[in-house]
Amino acid sequence: MRYDLEGIRRSVPKAVLYARQPTLWRYRELLPLESPDDIVTLGESATPLIEAPTLGEQVGLHKLFIKDEGLLPTGTFKARGAAVGVSRARELEVTALALPTAGNAGAAWAAYGARAGIGVVVVMPRDTPEVIRRETATYGARVFLIDGSIADAATAVREAVAEYGWYDASTLREPYRIEGKKTMGFELAEQLGWRVPDVIVYPTGGGVGLIGMWKAFQELAAIGWIEAKLPRFVSVQSTGCAPIVKAFAEGKDESEPWLEPRTIAAGLRVPKALGDFLVLRALRESNGTAIAVDDDEIRDTIGLIATDEGVLACPEGAAAVAAAYRLRQRGWLEEHDEVVVFNTGSGLKYGEALPGEPEELASGAKIPRAAATSEEPFSYERAFQVRAGEVRLN
Ligand SMILES: Cc1ncc(COP(=O)(O)O)c(C=O)c1O
Repeated sequence: MRYDLEGIRRSVPKAVLYARQPTLWRYRELLPLESPDDIVTLGESATPLIEAPTLGEQVGLHKLFIKDEGLLPTGTFKARGAAVGVSRARELEVTALALPTAGNAGAAWAAYGARAGIGVVVVMPRDTPEVIRRETATYGARVFLIDGSIADAATAVREAVAEYGWYDASTLREPYRIEGKKTMGFELAEQLGWRVPDVIVYPTGGGVGLIGMWKAFQELAAIGWIEAKLPRFVSVQSTGCAPIVKAFAEGKDESEPWLEPRTIAAGLRVPKALGDFLVLRALRESNGTAIAVDDDEIRDTIGLIATDEGVLACPEGAAAVAAAYRLRQRGWLEEHDEVVVFNTGSGLKYGEALPGEPEELASGAKIPRAAATSEEPFSYERAFQVRAGEVRLN
């Protein structure tokens, strides 16, 4: 989507935003809707940018922030893409849409579709976390489980869309979802006082979040609301599915499909992103990098973020924090870099990935006094003693 950025530059001072609600719709001049009457909203509030000093100390960073997208409707940043995508679909008088998903996008489109009265058909891998499967079906979407990954789901959707004439809401096949996701970049720049951080660490599946923010900062710079400076983007994947990391390391412009993608971070289980070349370009243009972490580290890091900062991260967000730790260890990140890590969703959607373990209290037994002063249950030292050495790509 292209906007009249020169026109906006001349006629919209950023001060107009301050009288508007703190939702993604405050950036309406840079969103694709023609009429506000078509907006389908569940209250997409600006998400908090939380300073993380205790976690920062463990990671070795003085200025570590978590942008917590878990507070959005349906519990992930996918609500941004769905709010804008479904609103635009309603404007286009769509009555039925279909999409393949690694999980959370399906839930978000199902929720907004329910609110808009649009029929939603979702195809997702059988091993998508249970809450997400049931959540999506509970919004009334027709949910079909398949063996395989989002790539196999995409094949099924493509066939149905071609035969039945449904609206294809697959990633990057409709142009509006990315417009919703780019509001992460607008919001972040505004929260930092109209500037960008040194580094953004982002968990990457289809890559739309990262490409969206890259576009957001270019638009903001073009209308003069921020300086023309990009943050260094870091793309984080799991060692069980790391096509972008591999392509980046090999200096390629495109990724190759990852065979047998496997990770607890369901949103990162994308064997080949349609927009991989754009992600790779954003990483290179911004002097960024790409890195993979393994599932054990991800699980430990969920515990670490929760005990240090009280944030229950999703595995994708925890992967990003683990990546920041790795990059600091390697010296790629310096201690004074201002680093924003995106927690893209709530850990509540991934019960099976949460590492905390309740204890038994036998009937009649007393709670031990030491229970209130327990030692820190998760730390990087412990996690990494067990698995010394750098993570290797399989
Ligand atoms: C929680 C979560 N984080 C990150 C991602 C990856 O996002 P993107 O496809 O924008 O790279 C997903 C995608 O499903 C997700 O559900």
